[in-house]
Amino acid sequence: MPPEPAHVVAIYPGSFDPVTFGHLDIIGRATRIFDRLIVAVLQNENKQSLFSVDERMEMLREVLLPPAGKQNPAEVARIEIASFDGLLVNYAAQRGARVILRGIRAISDYEYELQMALMNRKLASRIETVFLMAEETQSFVSSRLVKEVARLGGDVSAFVPASIEARLRERLSRPRPLREAAR
Ligand code: PNS
Repeated sequence: MPPEPAHVVAIYPGSFDPVTFGHLDIIGRATRIFDRLIVAVLQNENKQSLFSVDERMEMLREVLLPPAGKQNPAEVARIEIASFDGLLVNYAAQRGARVILRGIRAISDYEYELQMALMNRKLASRIETVFLMAEETQSFVSSRLVKEVARLGGDVSAFVPASIEARLRERLSRPRPLREAAR
């Protein structure tokens, strides 16, 4: 008899400011491979983000976890939305994750991703980084560009779910405080 497969927990870290169809594509693929997926939002106070960590987690929950009453408990138990600070490998070890999952869109992502993966391997050799390729239609989509297009009044409905688009519109329609506008 083949050996029992191990229960593999993967962690998908990122800024998710906001979550895009590219992220959702990677998450969908990952749930077909790993037993459990922790989508972990980086708490980075230095990074200028449009949405707070709590808002980013709420948006992820909104698009990933079906509303109460319509949940398939087995599916829901397999995806967790969390946040972390400090070193990613420490958080992964603490959560029992053996895999760090990252999405690669184009060759331009590779250098940065390779650097991070090798640094993380040096820091924690038992944790493997696994790269998944997003659907090619998403290969040019990034949270940064989505924010820029939305800020300039462009249509982002092909890149983010409708609820996220609405949040972007709402957030970007507010006048920025003077301190921020001066930047
Ligand atoms: O979505 P992003 O901004 O590309 O995600 C970057 C992220 C969160 C994966 C990276 O910044 C990270 O892991 N930060 C945690 C701090 C850390 O462990 N740094 C060393 C990584 S080599």
